[in-house]
Amino acid sequence: MGNQDKIRQLVELRQEARLGGGAERIESQHGKGKYTARERIEMILDEGSFEEFDMFVTHRSHDFGLEKQHYLSDGVITGHGTIDGRVVYIFSQDFTVFGGSLSETFALKVCKVMDQAIKVGAPLIGINDSGGARIQEGVKSLAGYAEIFQRNIMASGVIPQISAIFGPCAGGAVYSPALTDVIIMSDKTSYMFVTGPRVTKTVTGEEITNEDLGGAEVHAMKSGVAHFKAENEEEGFLLIRKTLEYLPQNNLEEPPVLVCDDPIDRTDDALNEVIPEDPHKPYDVKEIIYSVVDNHEFLEFQRHFAKNIVIGFARFNGIPCGIVANQPNFLAGVLDISASRKAARFVRFCDCFNLPVVTLVDVPGFLPGSAQEYGGIIIHGAKLMFSYGEATVPKITITLRKSYGGAHDVMGSKQLRGDINYAWPTAEIAVMGPKGAIEVLEGKKIASIVDPAERARYTAEKESEYREKFANPYQAAKYGYIDDVIEPRNTRFRIIRALTTLATKKDKNLPRKHSNIPL
Ligand code: HXC
Repeated sequence: MGNQDKIRQLVELRQEARLGGGAERIESQHGKGKYTARERIEMILDEGSFEEFDMFVTHRSHDFGLEKQHYLSDGVITGHGTIDGRVVYIFSQDFTVFGGSLSETFALKVCKVMDQAIKVGAPLIGINDSGGARIQEGVKSLAGYAEIFQRNIMASGVIPQISAIFGPCAGGAVYSPALTDVIIMSDKTSYMFVTGPRVTKTVTGEEITNEDLGGAEVHAMKSGVAHFKAENEEEGFLLIRKTLEYLPQNNLEEPPVLVCDDPIDRTDDALNEVIPEDPHKPYDVKEIIYSVVDNHEFLEFQRHFAKNIVIGFARFNGIPCGIVANQPNFLAGVLDISASRKAARFVRFCDCFNLPVVTLVDVPGFLPGSAQEYGGIIIHGAKLMFSYGEATVPKITITLRKSYGGAHDVMGSKQLRGDINYAWPTAEIAVMGPKGAIEVLEGKKIASIVDPAERARYTAEKESEYREKFANPYQAAKYGYIDDVIEPRNTRFRIIRALTTLATKKDKNLPRKHSNIPL
């Protein structure tokens, strides 16, 4: 073969690889409202930046007639490229080749990009669209999955790992995304479950569809497994890019600070009015978040799950931060199992990638009841406590209104190494709310009052006395647990000044193999 023929052969092989499982299967993929593995990569990465590895890899199986079917790339497209000019590694499962199922060589390809992403210190993006283990390859597929899982584990907290689910992701295969930092699922075209509907029916008798068992809505609302439910793949691509905008390339770098065109001293008079006069009345904490962050931009995570706590990324004077805020608009912002788990994981996510945590507190306490106690609220609440206490990033806490009991301590309190703790004048920082306190302190006396009107008057009087005396920020400020009581309208500026001051903060934990966080 002459040199020109060799070059022609290369071009032809590349063309063959780009066709994946063939035109018919590509058409079928498009017919399901899905893009192909390569199209997805092109749309996620900066134009023309993708550099592909291992295009000529094929499987090594000789069973069940596979020896007669070879497709270049073997069901997964891997390589690197850039997003906003920053290097990322990527793998994208190709459903048109054996249903994107995982073979020995497929796993080797994925492991290669994972290893290199870890060495280079660049984020890893995984696009999942697969029928799981390649059945014809038997245990080699299982070993391949485990090789990937092990790398997911070693990369955790070292490089950001983002998983998008744009098709099936079932059985043990779910554990690779589950080990990563962020999961994005496309609505109606993706599903994730450990055990599918068929086996579920056989084992438990329950009849359920793919969508109802593990669709994007289920994981966004009920399980909290998905951080984002994307309306379609395009929105999913944007969410991947957007999430990475806030994150450093790896744990040794600082998150990318942008030039901020939103005035740092922008005040908002509406914030002075946002807390209702009636302490039992709800309000939307997101109004406060949108008001204080740069350009009113807030990337909310797990928007539909445990809505009593709000988490997400935003910037203050260009500095990326994680925000955690109790949401009085939902279950009065109470801390329950789901909210504790959700916020705990998020605080740790921020801490491992050096994002300061800004906490907005309005929490009446932990949710009482047997369901919560039997479900282990003790352990789950402890997770959140642990996450705050262990985090060494700058921690700024602003108490807006209620901050009672154990929940007060948990939500970024001074004693959990909160660096700067402010309170609004409307803050109520106390051991418990006035109602509960008066019930404990005056319960017997109140019960002994026969006249209902007199009973109500006495109760109200005592509650008001308690509120005046204890439910304010000044008791805590008196002891230095609160550094300052601030005017709500100035909150943005005060947060930015705190962050700027804390930029060089250094803190560390005692040497140990690892902590034993109550998982
Ligand atoms: C080999 C597979 C495959 C697999 C699909 N294909 N899954 N080949 N191994 N696991 C092939 C099909 O034979 C078909 O080939 C092509 O991919 C497309 O599949 P269809 O069934 O036509 O597509 P669709 O109707 O969209 O259904 C998709 C599907 C279904 C729901 C994913 O294919 C399916 O149920 N697959 C099996 C899932 C499964 O049980 N996997 C193993 C689970 S065990 P042709 O040539 O017709 O295009 C597991 C353990 C992991 O994953 C453990 C990790 C620790």
